[in-house]
Amino acid sequence: MPAIEIKPDVYWIGVNDRTTDLFEGLWPITREGVSYNTYLVRDDKSAIVDLVKDTKEGELVDHLSDIMDVADLDYLVINHMEPDHSGALKVFLRLAPKLTILGTPKTKQMLESFYGITERVRVVEDGEEISLGRKTLRFVHTPFVHWPETMMTYVVSERVLFACDGFGGYGALRGAIFDDQCVDPAWYEKEALRYYVNIVAKFSGPVLRAIDKLAGVPVDVVAPSHGLIWRAHPERIIALYKEWAELAKGGGAPGVALVYGSMYGNTEEMMNAVAEGISKVGLPLEIFDGGRTHSSYILPAMWRYAGVMVGAPTYEGSLFPAMTQVLEMAAHKRILGKKTARFGSYGWSGGAQREYEAIVQPLKWEVMEPFEFVGAPTKEDLRHGFEYGERFARWVAESAK
Ligand code: FEO
Repeated sequence: MPAIEIKPDVYWIGVNDRTTDLFEGLWPITREGVSYNTYLVRDDKSAIVDLVKDTKEGELVDHLSDIMDVADLDYLVINHMEPDHSGALKVFLRLAPKLTILGTPKTKQMLESFYGITERVRVVEDGEEISLGRKTLRFVHTPFVHWPETMMTYVVSERVLFACDGFGGYGALRGAIFDDQCVDPAWYEKEALRYYVNIVAKFSGPVLRAIDKLAGVPVDVVAPSHGLIWRAHPERIIALYKEWAELAKGGGAPGVALVYGSMYGNTEEMMNAVAEGISKVGLPLEIFDGGRTHSSYILPAMWRYAGVMVGAPTYEGSLFPAMTQVLEMAAHKRILGKKTARFGSYGWSGGAQREYEAIVQPLKWEVMEPFEFVGAPTKEDLRHGFEYGERFARWVAESAK
């Protein structure tokens, strides 16, 4: 995609990445892709804001070259050191001999530890401004959104906020880079939630502090490093991020994430009965096979909804391992304060419930009594399963009011 002007002399010059399978080497984006939104501000002096992963550096240089000679760049603003933002750094230092890197004090340290760079670096303090001519850049330190060195950059006269990982999302751009051009903003919002829970959720406190800090700053355009640029409704993505960050305390919307695993279909058969019971109450319900679905796709529903129903059999005296992995990732992401219950089959002795409770209790999840059955469910078991799901859903609905 060629460069796109966001405001006079403020450009998106980013690239799409549709070849990386795992973001951070962990989170699947094969189908969705991701964008690295680099920006350019031109004036008497020119500043490029954030770069791209090293595999995409050639494409970025081409985009920039459509507008100006790379050698004429004055500043490189590094809002964040993670290599999806900084991977192309050394190429730019070579191509732009007068380039000065701008970043926080911690960025200066990380430039040395990640790239061995100690020269051509200027530290910018929180709130500091640098004039490019008629335009001024203001730097807002936002530690831990996403790493400790992270900051956002604000173009004062144009009211454009380069928000870095803040307000970002997965999803390569399809030509329409703005919220008002996009015909499927709901898809990008869903991918922004998945990105939030995968990447940012553990830093929800810093996200809320950053939003508070920006409260008095007039923003016409929220321009994150990944995903859509919000110019028609910049307040929309800020409100979503606030809502998601507040869920770090626990609770959630009335609804249930039902995650199950099944070796030979017995727990799956029961899952259908439990799901019917939940649906009877009318709560939103999302169902995931934990053995077949990457936790990247499961965690957003667990984060968002007040209820997490777990269906998992006993496996060698403990919890079905695929379920253990999902719950341990939920623990890693500090998904707190849910209502939960577990059902599942066992062959000759139990054990799953003990491991399940050992994982979820430190997360302050409230646990309803389990519903276990031996081998394949009978018709009577399935009737109980339906009632179990219904009772759980009523409990969740009551608490989430
Ligand atoms: Fe977009 Fe924290 O990397």
